[in-house]
Amino acid sequence: MRKTVIAGNWKMNMTPKAAGAFISELAPMVKGKDKCDIVLCVPFVDIATAAEAAKGTNIKIGAQNVHFEQKGAFTGEIAADMLLEAGAEYVIVGHSERRQYFGETDTTVNLRTKAALAAGLKVILCLGEVKDQRLSGITDEVVAMQTKLDLAGIPEEDLKNVVIAYEPVWAIGTGLTATPEQADETCGVIRKTIAAIYSKKAADEIVIQYGGSMNDGNAAELLAKTNVDGGLIGGASLKTDKFTAIVDAANK
Ligand code: 13P
Repeated sequence: MRKTVIAGNWKMNMTPKAAGAFISELAPMVKGKDKCDIVLCVPFVDIATAAEAAKGTNIKIGAQNVHFEQKGAFTGEIAADMLLEAGAEYVIVGHSERRQYFGETDTTVNLRTKAALAAGLKVILCLGEVKDQRLSGITDEVVAMQTKLDLAGIPEEDLKNVVIAYEPVWAIGTGLTATPEQADETCGVIRKTIAAIYSKKAADEIVIQYGGSMNDGNAAELLAKTNVDGGLIGGASLKTDKFTAIVDAANK
């Protein structure tokens, strides 16, 4: 039985003060709703305040990126142990916005994932096709290839600390959502790929989220699908009522 993981990706939103206030408001709203894990991936400077505000609650804190080296001359980057010490348990790796705007490749996604896992962080590994790839009918090949490249060299026992987020790029921030059937089918392709490179057991156990305009109105039908084990939520994670409604959908 896989546990549902509902994660918010705040992207470049909210100051530390706003993050603390948000979590104090959210905590009583999601209290006891433990059929899913609840994670908020916040900007780096918010992590310490967010972790403090989340202490003693069922909300876990994550970051949105991590560098693959442990330290050194990498201006503007951040190391896994810095995130851990600040209070992060999770980190998003390979988000399409990093792939599109900041030159992230499957090679660097793989390196970042390995470094995060080695340090003891849980990774939310994002992948998904762009619009032209879906229209060309090559979605399955694209997500299978990303799955293989992004997880290359990562041993099966480390998969318990990996959540895969299937995020079709055309559905991110656009208000367009994959249909529940599309989400189920493509999460299923990722699961089959995990079975092929690891084992049936690994495929049965790995948590695969859907992300892309998931909101309070569509979460229930997306989460009802067999292969969809949660959500990675952008815009709707910035409002406590909308995010709580998604947590509620996961607790039915
Ligand atoms: P939206 O929910 O705003 O479409 O963002 C999805 C996303 O990119 C989560 O990582």
